[in-house]
Amino acid sequence: MKHKTVFSCQQCGHQSPKWLGRCPDCAQWNTLVEEALPAAKTKGRAPGPAGRPQRLQEVQAAEEDRIRCGIGEFDRVLGGGVVPGSLTLIGGDPGIGKSTLLLQGVDRLAAAGLALYVTGEESTRQVKLRGERLGACAENLYLLAETSLEAILERVKELNPAFLVIDSIQTVFTAALESAPGSVSQVRECAGRLMQLAKGEGVPTFLVGHVTKDGAIAGPRMLEHMVDTVLYFEGDPGHPYRILRAVKNRFGSTNEIGVFEMQEKGLREVSNPSELFLAERPEGAAGSSVVSSLEGSRPILVELQALVSGSSFGTPRRTAMGIDHNRVSLLVAVLEKKVGLSLLSQDIFVNVAGGVRLDEPAVDLGVLAALASSHLNRPVPPRTLLFGEVGLAGEVRAVSRPELRVKEAARLGFDRCLLPAGNLKSIEPPPAMELVGVRSVEQALDGLLD
Ligand code: TYD
Ligand code: MG
Repeated sequence: MKHKTVFSCQQCGHQSPKWLGRCPDCAQWNTLVEEALPAAKTKGRAPGPAGRPQRLQEVQAAEEDRIRCGIGEFDRVLGGGVVPGSLTLIGGDPGIGKSTLLLQGVDRLAAAGLALYVTGEESTRQVKLRGERLGACAENLYLLAETSLEAILERVKELNPAFLVIDSIQTVFTAALESAPGSVSQVRECAGRLMQLAKGEGVPTFLVGHVTKDGAIAGPRMLEHMVDTVLYFEGDPGHPYRILRAVKNRFGSTNEIGVFEMQEKGLREVSNPSELFLAERPEGAAGSSVVSSLEGSRPILVELQALVSGSSFGTPRRTAMGIDHNRVSLLVAVLEKKVGLSLLSQDIFVNVAGGVRLDEPAVDLGVLAALASSHLNRPVPPRTLLFGEVGLAGEVRAVSRPELRVKEAARLGFDRCLLPAGNLKSIEPPPAMELVGVRSVEQALDGLLD
């Protein structure tokens, strides 16, 4: 009998019955590899105990079911704790601290039940040595060095853990497929089987996923669709700060972030990130402003820096780090047209301090102020916060949750806040805080930089 095979793209997971030079889905060349189909097709399975239909009202699910690990930043990103039966994928560059974070996390979780940490990359000895540094010593924490999926499932059956960590999904392989560990079909099949385990037995499971050069979790995109929660652990290797970001969460809000600092004894949570991001701000320097970005449920104040200087080349340079450069170009054009600053021939650099990424339009007004401040060489007053979305006509538009932003600024000792006039009526000003509502960018910059 002819052996059944399929060609699957190692980049995106697209499958084709015949070989193609170029993947029709992701347009990458030479990524299709022949793989044997599994002998018996694994059947689809309900994401929970199978059975008869139930009334929605009768389904048992309570918020109290969540298990908190006690690392506040981690719990918040998960949406308030670990949900029974959930499958969570944690991606990040090698060496960023994924193993460290999960070891610290399950060490705490082991207080609530038996935890099994499966390591496919390091020996149990290596994990133990790291654990010693982190002070991980829970009695109920078990280590297993194993890469065969069948063996892992066997051990899980014996041990019946309450929490499971697979570090990493790319090292696990199943004997049902002939392709190499880490290939698309292996990753997909193993993750699928682990999902059945998580849903069927209600074991919260964490998968570590490697990240490719272009920043996506390696393996099929399907992996991100299969799991309940996708977290990215990011950070600049040159800085000790790490940000855990929820990009998908079936049990909580996305764009929630957790901030950590990598220390000698592992990761320490930073519960006041604004203080940290503002710590090294040069007061009274031109080109610096403080903006407020809402990350999930929490406002974070971040320093934004701009440098505008005469260009020595024909084409002026535009560089933006931590913020969308199209957004910056738009704001430069607004400044040019509406405020009359001549910036077109200038080199412009914008940077967000502390390695944070800002995606919210609420930071527009701050970007504008930093650009104008650098160009005019006049500082923005030090204890002033700016937020508001800027439109093409130079109008300042209202943003969401202004009261949270103002409150955070008051907590950090700011005494003035420039905000959209449309947001003014919805806030009660905190004591010793002056709220200035503005309608246009001219009005915002008028008097700000004297
Ligand atoms: P690790 O968790 O192994 O990263 P990943 O699993 O994402 O590949 O983290 C490795 C890095 O963290 C390594 O460069 C050393 C650093 N580190 C510390 O600075 N302090 C510590 O206590 C630990 C355990 C690691
Ligand atoms: Mg690791």
